[in-house]
Amino acid sequence: MQKIRGDFGVINRYREYLPVSEATPIISLSEGSTPLIHAPTLSEMVQGNIYLKYEGLNPTCSFKDRGMTVAISKAAEHSAKAVLCASTGNTSASAAAYAARAGMQCVVILPAGRIAGGKMVQAYLYGATVVAIKGNFDDALRIVQKLGERGDFVVVNSTNPYRLEGQKTAAFEIIEELGKAPDLHILPVGNAGNITAYWKGYREFYDVGRSYNLPIMLGVQASGAAPLYHGAPMDHPETLATAIRIGQPASWNGAVGAVKESLGEFDMVTDEEILAAQKWLASKEGVFAEPASVVPVALLLKIFQSEDHHLCRSKTIFSKLPLHPTIVLTITGHGLKDPETASHTLSEPLQAEATEEAVLNVIQGS
Ligand code: F0G
Repeated sequence: MQKIRGDFGVINRYREYLPVSEATPIISLSEGSTPLIHAPTLSEMVQGNIYLKYEGLNPTCSFKDRGMTVAISKAAEHSAKAVLCASTGNTSASAAAYAARAGMQCVVILPAGRIAGGKMVQAYLYGATVVAIKGNFDDALRIVQKLGERGDFVVVNSTNPYRLEGQKTAAFEIIEELGKAPDLHILPVGNAGNITAYWKGYREFYDVGRSYNLPIMLGVQASGAAPLYHGAPMDHPETLATAIRIGQPASWNGAVGAVKESLGEFDMVTDEEILAAQKWLASKEGVFAEPASVVPVALLLKIFQSEDHHLCRSKTIFSKLPLHPTIVLTITGHGLKDPETASHTLSEPLQAEATEEAVLNVIQGS
């Protein structure tokens, strides 16, 4: 039989490492197998080999699709009719898409006024029932967990263990591509599921002998929403990186375990540093990522290019790495998810009459 494209999602690629069986219908949009892009400017700055795992190239433009294919496939296996999630935008987009694919109802609970435009459009277009609450993500997740107890909905937040099982496949892909685990892995942390999942993936491949090393895990938060950095939940998280505007991460223990076991660290960067890093990454490396996704880049710029480097708790990690270390940064979501936040960089285009001479004059005069 001809292989259809949907056969190449993460479940088929890593079936033996995932909790699926012959009885599991595979609901896939060909997620995963994202590029690991070498970043020459960052590499020179850090004197190492820096790679960007560009998860913005998944079907709904964020890393969430890896976990969602497993969560929705398992929900379908158990004949679920409806799924439910709280979200800062990307989980809801992904849940809505995979639920549409499975013919299930999808209900998403979002903090009103705090979801980037692209993500909101996705939820509606994929046909989700969208409920905006007068509260933040932590309130939304609390409500979702309570509603989940009623049994009418399957909760597809990362409290659903199938989500993390799917997300760990990003670590598998990195090991397969590099031939080993990186020396250091840096990623943004919000609800803390992804750092938990990556560490699980790295550990599993290490345990079965598919890599001989484990990375140091470095989780980065926005300074206004940095509960793991401070070691205590926050009641009023605030950051323009709305995807990680979270004060009470659900996977707290998993994230702390990953950092402790890998001898890593949590660090944080300010909103100004995030905006600067977003523009820097696009204009120096050609990669456009949403604000939450560039916090690892902001941290590297702070440590290697700023006078504020002494403020970075994770600085000492870099002095312990081998010469010319291999470092992977997860770029969790595409920049087009949230064009509004980047629009501060826009200026009026140069104006010209519709002739070659006029256009050339304007270019030369600029
Ligand atoms: N980056 C992006 C683009 C995200 O959307 C998220 C989380 C994270 C990083 C942090 O990952 O929560 O696993 O630590 N977004 C969730 C959502 C909360 O609802 O879309 P995490």
